[in-house]
Amino acid sequence: MSNQLLKGKRGIIFGALDENSIAWKVAQKVHEEGGIFTLTNAPIALRMGEINKLAEATGSKVLPADATSLEELQKLFEESTQILGGKLDFILHSIGMSPNVRKSKSYGDLNYDFYLKTLDISALSFHKIMHIAEKTDSMNEWGSILALSYIAAQRTFSHYSDMAEAKAALESIARSYGARFAHLKKVRVNTISQSPTRTTAGKGIAGFDAFYDFADKLSPLGNASADDCANYCIAMFSDFTRMVTMQNLMHDGGFSHSGITDALIEKMN
Ligand SMILES: NC(=O)c1ccc[n+]([C@@H]2O[C@H](COP(=O)([O-])OP(=O)(O)OC[C@H]3O[C@@H](n4cnc5c(N)ncnc54)[C@H](O)[C@@H]3O)[C@@H](O)[C@H]2O)c1
Repeated sequence: MSNQLLKGKRGIIFGALDENSIAWKVAQKVHEEGGIFTLTNAPIALRMGEINKLAEATGSKVLPADATSLEELQKLFEESTQILGGKLDFILHSIGMSPNVRKSKSYGDLNYDFYLKTLDISALSFHKIMHIAEKTDSMNEWGSILALSYIAAQRTFSHYSDMAEAKAALESIARSYGARFAHLKKVRVNTISQSPTRTTAGKGIAGFDAFYDFADKLSPLGNASADDCANYCIAMFSDFTRMVTMQNLMHDGGFSHSGITDALIEKMN
């Protein structure tokens, strides 16, 4: 079902790794809704080559950029506005990685170099992207910038480790840069806090299947899928949400406001 909600809009989509990635689904739906975009990911992720299928299906160009590198981001923004033929209306930050999680470090025994990498890749990159968007004057007025977050920013989830701090920082950056960008260019900045989703990043968290199942049972609507999340991103990129900014938007089937549900009681019994 397409309503061409994004017709005439241009953007950059960060973080499509394979067909399970949330960013992959967002790219497909933005294309369906008439938007055009460049796809980007870290050079090492592009080596898998999967993204070329998405690029072909959506008529997009793939541009490499490590989202922690200001130089690479600068090049990405300059090339993107040139390729797309004008300034941008939307940006999706769908990036997360923790070397501590990857190496199964316990929270009391984190490697601090890894910790800084987690924060740089998963949170500061959001600031860097907006910093470069601002300095290159790449955004159109009333543009929309989104990043994906998780409720571990507000509550502890065992095994989410230093990603919890990264998500808390990410949400804070959305508020602070949201205030600045609103003032500068009427650009809105939000985070979407998504249900557990079976992706490479999601499945990398120890015990993922258990907390996926738990969240599903505790959410009156069940877990939101990557497709549902992509639909929400379309709404947030469209002109129907122009006054929504500096928010962390829960997209979790009701999980964040549930105490217990019949489904969970049944499971526990
Ligand atoms: N999967 C879940 O359960 C879940 C839940 C809530 C929020 N999220 C968030 O959604 C976002 C997307 O993750 P996903 O679940 O689609 O997994 P994914 O593994 O498909 O996507 C993560 C992406 O980050 C990219 N990335 C890592 N380091 C990078 C760097 N230095 N520069 C540029 N890109 C880099 C990876 O290449 C990958 O494409 C992340 O922010 C994640 O934390 C995921």
